[in-house]
Amino acid sequence: MARTSEIVAGLDLGSSKVAVVITEGDSTERNIIGLSLVPTGGGLREGQVVSIEQTTEAIDAAVNEAARMAGCQITSVRVGVGGSGTMGFNSDGTVAIRGGRVAGTDLERVLEAARAVPLPSDKQIMHALPQEYIIDGHDRIRHPVGMNGVRLEARVHVITASRTALINAVECCSKAGLTVDRLEFGGLASSAAVTTREERELGCVVVDVGGGTTDIAVWYDQALVHTVSLDWGGDELTKQIARGLRTPVKSAESIKQSFGCALASMVSDGETMEVPSVGGREAQTRQRHLLCEILEPGLEDLFTRVASEIDVAGCRELLAAGVVLTGGTANLAAVADLGEDILVGMPVRVGTPRGPGGLVDVVQDPRYATAVGLCLDTFEVMSVPVGPAARPRATGGGLWGGVRKLWDSWF
Ligand SMILES: Nc1ncnc2c1ncn2[C@@H]1O[C@H](COP(=O)(O)OP(=O)(O)OP(=O)(O)O)[C@@H](O)[C@H]1O
Ligand SMILES: [Mg+2]
Repeated sequence: MARTSEIVAGLDLGSSKVAVVITEGDSTERNIIGLSLVPTGGGLREGQVVSIEQTTEAIDAAVNEAARMAGCQITSVRVGVGGSGTMGFNSDGTVAIRGGRVAGTDLERVLEAARAVPLPSDKQIMHALPQEYIIDGHDRIRHPVGMNGVRLEARVHVITASRTALINAVECCSKAGLTVDRLEFGGLASSAAVTTREERELGCVVVDVGGGTTDIAVWYDQALVHTVSLDWGGDELTKQIARGLRTPVKSAESIKQSFGCALASMVSDGETMEVPSVGGREAQTRQRHLLCEILEPGLEDLFTRVASEIDVAGCRELLAAGVVLTGGTANLAAVADLGEDILVGMPVRVGTPRGPGGLVDVVQDPRYATAVGLCLDTFEVMSVPVGPAARPRATGGGLWGGVRKLWDSWF
């Protein structure tokens, strides 16, 4: 059968920047044909829209730039969101198998049962990812349709987000003339871009450290078992540098990127840097060591929080593939080494986006992880309905089609 080529655009609404990646191809092979990275200019904080106008402008600029490069017009996007209010939990559901053999409708009913959890009115389910199915006590079944049995159980990982945050994200896209094809948790999209199937099977943790948030996704046996979004990102380090070195925030950011190192022990004595001063005072020459001494404790705290989240997931000793760091802060020198010091016994690596071809060398930057991941159809994720005309749409298979009624009833 002939494969149909389509254009897919991933738009990462980050606290620091809007990143857009445009790909062309089908679900088996995609090439990057356009990309852009535009600062959000304060339109988002901790992953959430705080200015519709500024965010819309950034989206408009980013989409236009990437579309110009790709030589195409973009009218719909897959949007990556995260930040405070995003969290995941595990849930399960059980149904009787009608007719003694699992049919597609049994699958829909059991997933519906697993997702039927009471939520506060300001929360919205973004995804429900199947972990395993159990038929008459036999567990770890991935494809139950066609199997015989009496009782079908489903274990799923549910990701919820702030309803208002999702509506605001959609509104900004709509004001920029774009239809939202799918909303996806940034940590899920990043996982698709920076980990291999083998790592997710063996067990790994994806830690996407952005500017205002840190998205954590714990994988084991190909399934997502824990997700959380922390209100902490690399911009916190920038602020600490600005305070500690008494320099403007803009200079602190460029000092962090040019001279930053997560481990003070890796910087030799005598290395110096020029630090602009505030209030018209003269720039000063300071020891690079001082910068590392500011960065190290902040990152130690972050890895300690990552360790606690791994403990919450309850599978620390099972995560043989270790930790994959991504997001802009993963660019910091020696950050993976510091991670290994704190997360004793776990290998830590920096993950840059992989998968699609085309301009792939240009996206070899962890800041593009979410935008690239959005263009891949690695996981079966259900899109959130985002307006009266929108309907849930499945990717990577038709599993979710039958639960539209439920989604419709929520809007
Ligand atoms: N070379 C570098 N060294 C250190 N930090 C860096 C470097 N490059 C980028 N960063 C930091 O990465 C952060 C931005 O990362 P990223 O673009 O992934 O964030 P975001 O997706 O916009 O935000 P979030 O995911 O938190 O909503 C900023 O804090 C920035 O200072
Ligand atoms: Mg991000």
